[in-house]
Amino acid sequence: MYSRIAGTGSYLPRKVLTNHDLAKMVDTSDEWIFARTGIRERHVATDNEVASDLALAAGQRAIANSDLVPADIDLIIVATTTPDMVFPSTACILQSKLGIRGCPAFDVQAVCSGFVYAITIADMFIVSGRAKNALIVGAEVYSRILDWTDRTTCVLFGDGAGAMVLSVSQEPGVLAAKLHADGGYAEKLCVPGWICGGKTIGSPFVQMDGGSVFKFAVGAFEEVAREVLEAAKMSVADIDWFIPHQANIRIMEATARKLELPLERLISTVEHHGNTSAASIPLALDEAVNAGQIKRGENLLLEGVGGGFTWGGVLLRY
Ligand code: UT7
Repeated sequence: MYSRIAGTGSYLPRKVLTNHDLAKMVDTSDEWIFARTGIRERHVATDNEVASDLALAAGQRAIANSDLVPADIDLIIVATTTPDMVFPSTACILQSKLGIRGCPAFDVQAVCSGFVYAITIADMFIVSGRAKNALIVGAEVYSRILDWTDRTTCVLFGDGAGAMVLSVSQEPGVLAAKLHADGGYAEKLCVPGWICGGKTIGSPFVQMDGGSVFKFAVGAFEEVAREVLEAAKMSVADIDWFIPHQANIRIMEATARKLELPLERLISTVEHHGNTSAASIPLALDEAVNAGQIKRGENLLLEGVGGGFTWGGVLLRY
């Protein structure tokens, strides 16, 4: 018994914020942002769009592309750092918006590694016979947790959602998965705020030691790639498409070079999406599927690194 991708979907809010727009808001430039990150533009949700709205649009597309209807879904996992509310989970809100009830629904909070964590969990549900069609969504509205006067962070992130239906299959889909975390790095990338007595204590905005994250990410991406390949008894040459978390083109290309993986096999959407945290991997995956780049039977390596630090990789056959 295996779990395999039945279909994918994604959604981007209509409003686009370009680097030139940002240069009117903070002391930055299109040249600096593009040279350091590969980002030209990002999408930004409207004031009344919440994570579950983005998740709903992406999820509906993934369900339709799987030739299923919402009633077929028997597990919902939403990876998000920017939930609609403190509780209930965005997954429960999404379930209600999909018009279904009863199946387990919960959020995963592993920041930019959230989608890789969610696939791994869904795969365990499916191979153990506890679910048949899992809807997994990465949905983020980072625009809500950015200090728009801080040029070191506000230029990096964007909003969006990506989704996948992982279904039970006789054919291999998920081939290997490895997850990691090291909470010793918590302060390197965080939103160090919480709600207490009706007030926000600490800061409600993203704070980051960019250099430390950069260095850690390149090492972790390489290490976990080798770990999943070894677990699946495969080599770098077997990877048809490498879809890392889309944070920075320099991190992605440095990892590909370390792995000696040709850059033509690297899927990158960071130029138009920015860093959409838990949504970035499924957004990139869906775009590449729709563009006809990724075909059935090809091997995909999905990798995430994010706040925590958390990191992980999933090797799967599409
Ligand atoms: O999902 C994971 C989340 N985070 C990441 O993946 C981030 C990982 N880190 C990075 O992507 C990079 O470290 C950054 C893109 C954040 C920064 O790039 P960098 O090459 O490490 O630049 P830097 O932080 O060393 O800054 C270089 C200079 C500094 O000025 P001085 O000190 O040299 O005078 C910054 O103040 O660039 C300045 N700077 C900016 N200039 C124009 C920082 N942000 C900006 C900006 N526009 N937006």
